[in-house]
Amino acid sequence: MSILKEKRILLGVTGSIAAYKAADLASKLTQAGSRVDVILTRAAEQFISPLTFQSLTGRKAYTDSELWGGESHILHVGLGHAAELFIIAPCTANTMAKLAQGQANDLLSITALAAQCPILLAPAMDVGMYEHPATQENARVLQERDVHFAGPAEGRMASGLLGRGRMLEPAEVLGHARRVLGKKGKLAGKKILISAGGTREAIDPVRFITNRSSGKQGYALAQAALDAGAEVILVSAPTALIPPVGAKRVSVQSAEEMLNAVLRESDEVDAIIMAAAVADFRPAQVAERKLKKRDGIPQIQLEAAPDILKRLASQKSSASRPRVVVGFAAESRDLLANASEKLKSKKLDLIVANDISAKDAGFDVDENRVILLTPDGKKEKLSLRSKIEVAEIILARLGDLLEK
Ligand code: C5P
Repeated sequence: MSILKEKRILLGVTGSIAAYKAADLASKLTQAGSRVDVILTRAAEQFISPLTFQSLTGRKAYTDSELWGGESHILHVGLGHAAELFIIAPCTANTMAKLAQGQANDLLSITALAAQCPILLAPAMDVGMYEHPATQENARVLQERDVHFAGPAEGRMASGLLGRGRMLEPAEVLGHARRVLGKKGKLAGKKILISAGGTREAIDPVRFITNRSSGKQGYALAQAALDAGAEVILVSAPTALIPPVGAKRVSVQSAEEMLNAVLRESDEVDAIIMAAAVADFRPAQVAERKLKKRDGIPQIQLEAAPDILKRLASQKSSASRPRVVVGFAAESRDLLANASEKLKSKKLDLIVANDISAKDAGFDVDENRVILLTPDGKKEKLSLRSKIEVAEIILARLGDLLEK
C-alpha cells in the first residue's frame, strides 16, 4: 500500500445517499496511511455527519460553517494547495455541473477551484440523471480538463430502478485513486505483462490437475506495476482474486491457453513477469465425456505442457521479444542451484527464487521470502515480508533493468 502512504488526500462528500460509502473510503484511505481531510457540502450533512469522518480519519472534517469565520484564514487555498489528490465521492449531478462551470459558492467548490492536484470524481445519481445530455456535457467538459472519473456503475438505484449512476464501491474508487497517483511513476509509459495463478489441465470435462498457487503474488505484482504507472496485462489462470483496477485481465485455464495469450498479448510489451505456476505436465488425452466410476480406475498418461518461458527464450533475437523477462522458481530443494539453472536455460533477466518447503511463505499465504538472482551472479535475499512488499521490490528492480 506504499503509494497511499503519507499521501495528503482531500475527500469531498456531496449530498447523495451514497455518502455512506464515503465513510468506508475515508477509513480505507486512512488505514492505508493517507492523511485524509474531508469537506462535506451542506446537502452531504443531511446524509452523514462530520463526526463520522472525524472519528474515522482522526482529523477535522470541514463544513461550510468553516467558510464563514473558521479559524483558518484562507481555508480553501490551504486545503487545495496541500492536497496531492482531491477525490469527490459521491459526486452529485449538481456538484458536477458546478465544477464544469467553475462555480465557487461553497467550501467544496471553492477548494476545487483552488486545488492544484489531480481531481477524481465518483459520480452518484439516480436513473436518467447521468445520461441526461446536460450531465454528459458536463462530464465531457471535465474530462477535457483532465478531471478523472471513477464510474458510475450500472445497477440498482435508491429509487429501486435499474440504470447507470451507482457510485462505485469504495475499494474500486481506491483503485482509481492509486492509478491517478501512480501516473507519473517510474514505469509510466511502460507496458508489462504479468501471468498469475495455477493453470488447470483437463482430465475430462469436469476434472483437472492443478497446483496450490493462489495468484496472490502475481496480483500483487500487477497492483505494484499499476502503482508505478505501467500499463498492465494480467494473464490469469483461475483465482479467487479481484484484479486490480486498471489492469487488463485475460482469463485462461490451461498452460496451452496461457502460452497463446502470452504470445498474443506480448506484442510491444516492455517486460514480462511469469509469476504463474504453469503446469509442467498435463494429461496426454482429455476424455470427451466424464470418466465413469463403473469403468474402473483410469490410467492417466501425462505429457509435457508447453514451457512458456522457453518459448519466449527461443525468440531472444527477435525484435518482438520483450526487453526484460522475469521468472519465478518455486523449489522445495536445492533452491539456488535450481533457480540459477532456470535463469540460464530460460534466458531470464531476473529470477525470483522461493523455497516452498517453508510453511510461512510461498504458496497460498500472504507472505513470501525470496531471493532475487540476476545473470551477473548477484543475489539479493529478502527476509519474510508481505507479497505486496515483495512485489514492490521486484518492480523497482525491473524498473532499473528497463533503464539500462
Ligand atoms: O515450473 P518451473 O519451476 O520451471 O517454473 C519456473 C518459471 O517458468 C516460472 O516463472 C513459470 O511461470 C515459468 N513456466 C513456464 N512454463 C511452464 C512452466 C513454468 O513459463 N510450462
